[in-house]
Amino acid sequence: MSLQLGDTAPNFTQDSTEGPITLYDYLGDSWGVLFSHPADFTPVCTTELGMVAKLKPEFEKRNTKVIALSVDPLEKHKGWAGDIEETQGAALNFPLLADGDRQVSEKYGMIHPNADSTATVRSVFVIDPAKKVRLTLTYPAPTGRNFDEILRVIDSLQLTEYEKVATPVNWKDGGEVVILPSISNEDADKMFPKGYKELKPYLRMTPQPNK
Ligand code: BEZ
Repeated sequence: MSLQLGDTAPNFTQDSTEGPITLYDYLGDSWGVLFSHPADFTPVCTTELGMVAKLKPEFEKRNTKVIALSVDPLEKHKGWAGDIEETQGAALNFPLLADGDRQVSEKYGMIHPNADSTATVRSVFVIDPAKKVRLTLTYPAPTGRNFDEILRVIDSLQLTEYEKVATPVNWKDGGEVVILPSISNEDADKMFPKGYKELKPYLRMTPQPNK
């Protein structure tokens, strides 16, 4: 059975471009994004890794560490890293796991045999500081992911962890949010001093509380 939201993210120790990584030690109290690539020296993956390198400050602002994975060996990763820097204008600045023995890919269900029996699909796992899986995404090999969307989801997860709100369609940090239906109007009056619009009893819009 594949990993589901709320499951504990399996721990592992695996080689990477930054030396051996033990997931729980590496993450410490941070959030984490673990994402897989079909293979080294492939075009879409090259663009994705370059983009994540450029976005690293955005992940850091969100107390989030990123880890990439492909099932190719470390020596191959090192050669590919040069191509990523040359073509994308950004050097790898986060670990790329060398999961040649597929230990991590199998624990995380990153190989989907009916799509490809050897390479990983494009999986993404967002892991919270309690090591719980908070987001899973699976993209097919030819489709590059949108890492702005992954940052947006982390913003939503981190906001809704602490405030009694949820984030509506296409929300971005700073936009209006919805008050949880479980909160009474009486409590909402106290909890949301900026006020709210009641479109329906279950649909109350309020400015983002932590802005
Ligand atoms: C890739 O770049 O990873 C890729 C491109 C086309 C098909 C499959 C994978």
